Amino acid sequence: MRAVRAGELDADDAAESLTAQMTGGEVLGLLDGDSPRWLLPFIPLLLGRRPFVAGEVPRLGIPGIRFSDGGRGVVIGACTAFPVTMARAATWNPALEERVGVAIGLETRARGANYSASVCVNLLRHPGWGRAQECYGEDPVLTGGMGSALTRGVRVNVMACVKHFALNSMENERFEVDVTVDEHALHEVYLPHFKAVVDAGADSVMSAYNRVRGEYMDVNRALLTDVLRNEWGFTGFVTSDWVFGTHDAILSLRAGMDVEMPLRLLRARDLPAAVRSGQVADSTLLLSARRILRSSVMHAATREQASPGTAVIASPANRALARQVAAESIVLLKNDATDTAPLLPLAPATRHLAVIGRLASRANLGDHGSSRVRPPSTVSPLQGLREALPLVRMTTSSGRNLRAAATMAAKAETAIVVVGLDQHDEGESVVTGGVDVGVLGRSVGWALLRKPLVGLAHIVSHFVRGGDRRSLELRPSDARLIRKVAAANPHTIVVLIGGSAILTEGWRYSVPAILLAWYGGMEGGHALASVLTGAVEPGGRLPFALPTTAAHLPPFDSSAKSVVYDDKWGQRLLDADGHTAAFPFGFGLSYTTMEHALLHHRFDDADRSAHVRVTNTGSRLGSTVVQIYAADVSVRRPVAQLLGFTKVALQPGAEMTVQVTLDAGPTLQRDPATRQWSSRAGDWALLAAQHSPVSWADAVPLRRVEGSQAGRI
Ligand code: BGC
Repeated sequence: MRAVRAGELDADDAAESLTAQMTGGEVLGLLDGDSPRWLLPFIPLLLGRRPFVAGEVPRLGIPGIRFSDGGRGVVIGACTAFPVTMARAATWNPALEERVGVAIGLETRARGANYSASVCVNLLRHPGWGRAQECYGEDPVLTGGMGSALTRGVRVNVMACVKHFALNSMENERFEVDVTVDEHALHEVYLPHFKAVVDAGADSVMSAYNRVRGEYMDVNRALLTDVLRNEWGFTGFVTSDWVFGTHDAILSLRAGMDVEMPLRLLRARDLPAAVRSGQVADSTLLLSARRILRSSVMHAATREQASPGTAVIASPANRALARQVAAESIVLLKNDATDTAPLLPLAPATRHLAVIGRLASRANLGDHGSSRVRPPSTVSPLQGLREALPLVRMTTSSGRNLRAAATMAAKAETAIVVVGLDQHDEGESVVTGGVDVGVLGRSVGWALLRKPLVGLAHIVSHFVRGGDRRSLELRPSDARLIRKVAAANPHTIVVLIGGSAILTEGWRYSVPAILLAWYGGMEGGHALASVLTGAVEPGGRLPFALPTTAAHLPPFDSSAKSVVYDDKWGQRLLDADGHTAAFPFGFGLSYTTMEHALLHHRFDDADRSAHVRVTNTGSRLGSTVVQIYAADVSVRRPVAQLLGFTKVALQPGAEMTVQVTLDAGPTLQRDPATRQWSSRAGDWALLAAQHSPVSWADAVPLRRVEGSQAGRI
């Protein structure tokens, strides 16, 4: 380590020299977790207590991979709970996301881990996905930008692992589902953001549970080796998703999956004999061993040497960051005038608020799966409002008794209804109250018991918590409550909590104001109150399209054993079919008004950027996300492709020119034979907008590529 740090040895040589000093057993030990198989039922419990270690060799000073989950904060002990990944996607602010990454990495290290599985960049194919909250929404460019930012931040302190590679966007059948995808959709839709994160320096990739084109991902050589390593040049190591994510000790190694996590299971059982018999060559073992050691050595040598103390955990600075992120993530969907002015922000003269709803006074931080964080304290919406408005009279009710709730609302100047989802409605499945029922199959009866136990896990998780959503609507009782309260008080604000799209058609016309506040983390209540009072403006923009009906989205069958992923989903499907979204991708109101004007549009290899003049035409300080879209406008219904975005804040009346870096990816195509990228045919035009455009009338021509010319940039 010292020699690498001093520049006397490079990481490859260090890895080589370490493997040369290792026994055969020690090399094999690098290729799976260090924990014994009997720990299996206790994984969920232990995940919250200590890092899971793989490949520690004390004799040689090799610490091993010391794993922690961490998508919304560190899961070991009581750490800072940040807003969930989807909420952070709604900030459209990579610089802020990088700071979150630094904080998560620091707390990961302070908890004794050196590896954080915090970067989840699966695409939101459908908002019914139970783990939607763990991803950055439906768009490859937004996902790539935010995931890369988190990766850069996390890596300051620990190794960053990006997951789940690839096409893992369903929960209930995640262990089995087989995704069929053509070359175009695979490379141009579902993989670009993984590549972006790899390019940003991800040390490690976690393979997914599901199958792609018939092969489980741990044995999917086409993706793990041909694409990830040979085409993209990834030099780090690949781990399996846990327990059920390894299907074959030998085939997975050959396919390029380096570490079976987190127990000594299949590899410990099968590899020693395979090595003895010559079925697995030493060179295959050493290839994986060197990748693991190289990444760990490189990482240890380049990070800050002094370890952080536990004082960094849930520190005032990290709480302040969690609060800032939560406020920037809140999306104001509707803000109609009730008297003369829009209902929000709350009038300073407000004297009496009714805060109503199941979720008003609860700590609701997201699902109870592997990304669950248990912070030392959490501020609920009600507590946040009480602290922000100590002089305002606040009455509150769970809303279970509709009539009482309506009477209470009628007596207040303004009613705030806090409703939405919790861990029962959506989330990672299988993990059921401390005992992981599904994974028991592996330790008990292998093939024979595996199927029934997975089946049992599904049934249990269906009733207990999490899994894919059964509906994109609110619970009927929540919708009834909104209508009842709105009928009693025209000044009704709806605050939605959840991890992805919640349909609003059933009630949105009966209320003047709607906010989407996500699972806002431990400081979520403070953040919400600051937005409601206007101390902070709502900075969030939708990271997915919110349709008027689920019928406008791709079909979603959570029990499907096979699915087809194409290039039509989310806003793109709405555009292609000519359906208007209730709230389009990228949408979010502000307390001020902004104008965007595209100045010029050189978009070629020399200058991949657009310049936009932004003016704050309103009367308050505010932010806006400058979004640049491209589309082939020769077709009847152009399909908008986000190419880049930049968030800026402006004082009232101020004007500035913003440079937006563009990612040409969505306008390109990959030739499967040559693996070369080139322009897609079409009459491409560019537009600066505040959300996915509804009209292309003002678009600026970008380039025209005839069908036969497609291929030339
Ligand atoms: C999840 C991963 C997670 C791992 C360890 C798996 O079930 O799919 O996202 O990192 O468990 O908790």
